[in-house]
Amino acid sequence: MTGTELINTGDNAEQERTRALVAAALDRSRARSVALTDAVDDGELVRQHSRLMSPLVWDLAHIGNQEELWLVRDVGGREPVRSDIDALYDAFQHPRADRPALPLLSPTEARSYVGEVRDKVLDVLDKVPLTGRRLVDGGFAFGMIVQHEQQHDETMLATHQLRAGAPVLHAPDPDPNPPPVAEREVFVPAGEFTMGTSTEPWALDNERPAFRTHVDAFYLDTVPVSNGDYLAFIDAGGYDDPRWWSEAGWAHRRQAGLVAPQFWSRDGDGWSRTRFGVVEPVPLDEPVVHVCFHEAAAYAKWAGKRLPTEPEWEKAARFDPATGRSRRFPWGDDDPGPEHANLGQRHLRPAPVGSYPAGASPLGVRQLIGDVWEWLDSDLRPYPGFAAFPYREYSEVFFGGDYKMLRGGSFGTDAAAVRGTFRNWDHPVRRQIFAGFRCARDAGPR
Ligand code: AVJ
Ligand code: FE
Repeated sequence: MTGTELINTGDNAEQERTRALVAAALDRSRARSVALTDAVDDGELVRQHSRLMSPLVWDLAHIGNQEELWLVRDVGGREPVRSDIDALYDAFQHPRADRPALPLLSPTEARSYVGEVRDKVLDVLDKVPLTGRRLVDGGFAFGMIVQHEQQHDETMLATHQLRAGAPVLHAPDPDPNPPPVAEREVFVPAGEFTMGTSTEPWALDNERPAFRTHVDAFYLDTVPVSNGDYLAFIDAGGYDDPRWWSEAGWAHRRQAGLVAPQFWSRDGDGWSRTRFGVVEPVPLDEPVVHVCFHEAAAYAKWAGKRLPTEPEWEKAARFDPATGRSRRFPWGDDDPGPEHANLGQRHLRPAPVGSYPAGASPLGVRQLIGDVWEWLDSDLRPYPGFAAFPYREYSEVFFGGDYKMLRGGSFGTDAAAVRGTFRNWDHPVRRQIFAGFRCARDAGPR
C-alpha cells in the first residue's frame, strides 16, 4: 500500500479543512498585495523611494517567484513558469540599493506573472496530498508562502510610509477611547516556561523546537511606551545625554543626527508627524513607532528601566500561571480576531495604549500582539535543537549577525504572519519598520 492509500476519511476531512484555510489565506494576501501596488501608478511602482527599500514592483514579482519556486516547482513538481528570472528576484544576489537598475519585469509583466503562478498553485493545492512529506504536512509550504507574501506586504506598507506625496492608502481609525489601565506594570514571577513550539503547523524553523527555559522574576510595562512618554525623554534632553546611550547607540545617534522618531518634525514648540502622507500633531496616547533599537534602549535607561529580553517577552505573552502551559497567543489558543489585536492593516496606525483588553495576557499585559513590533534586548540566535527548514536563507544565515529581536507584530502585520512564538529581527539602527517598545525592570530592590 502506498502512503496515500493509508489515509482514512478523517484525514481527508482534515486535509479539506486545511485546503480551505490555505485558499482563503492565499486570497487575502493577494488582495493585499494588489491593493498596495494598485494604489500608485506605474512610475511609482518602479521608483525606489528609499535606498533601504526595493521598488514595489520588485516585491510583487519576488512574491510570485518565491511562490513559484516552492509551490509550483517543489511541492507541485511542475515545469517552471519562468526560470529565466530567478536570479533577478533572489534577495541574496542583489542588494536592495541595486534592484532598480536590474532588468526587472514591468508592472504589467509582474502582474501577469504573479497571476499565472497563482493559477498553477491553486491547481497544485487541489491535487497534492497534504501529508507524507514534511514540506506539505499540515499545509506547511503553503503557510510559509502565505507568510512570505504578508511579510513583503508589510515591507511594501513601509515603502508607502517612506514615499512622499498625497495619501493613497485609507483606513478607519481605531477606537480612540480605550479602557483605562489599572497598573502600569505587571509582576512576572520567576520560573521555567515552555518557549518556542513543536506543534504549531505553520511555525517557521527559527521558532522550533519547543524547550523549557528559566526566567528570573521581572516587571513588565502593561502597555507600550507612548508618544507622550517618549516626548518627556526628548524634552528632558535625552538625545543629548550620552549617559542614556550605549557606546554604539551614541555613535549612531551622533552620526545619523537623531533628534526624534523618524517622520516627526518640529511644529512651533510641539511636534507633528507624517503618516502615509497625512501631516498631523503627534498623538500623545499612541505607542511610539519608527524608533530604532538604540533609541528604545536609551529611553528605557533614562526611565530607570531596560528593554525586555526575548524569553521575558515570550513568557509574558504566553505563560499561563493557572495551568503552567504556554498559550498560542496572550489571550489563549484562538486565532487573532479584531477584538484581540490591531493587525492586518485594518488601521493605518497603532491604537492608543491600553486598547484591546480582550487581547491581554493572563498577567494583564496588553497589546503584546499587534500595534507596534517591540524591540528586545536579545540578538538573533537559534533555539537549542534548531534545524534549518526548508531553506537556510530564511533565518540560519542571519544568526550571529548585527540584529536585535522584535516580537508581536504591528498594525501592518497580518494575523497569518504573527504568533506568540513568531520571531522577527532587524538591524539595531532600522527605523522605517513599524517598531516601538515597552520597558521592563528587574524584580527585587530597586
Ligand atoms: C524575517 C521579516 C526579517 O522581511 O526581511 C522575507 C522575512 N525573508 N523574505 C524580511 C523574509 C525573506 C524577513 N524578516
Ligand atoms: Fe522575501
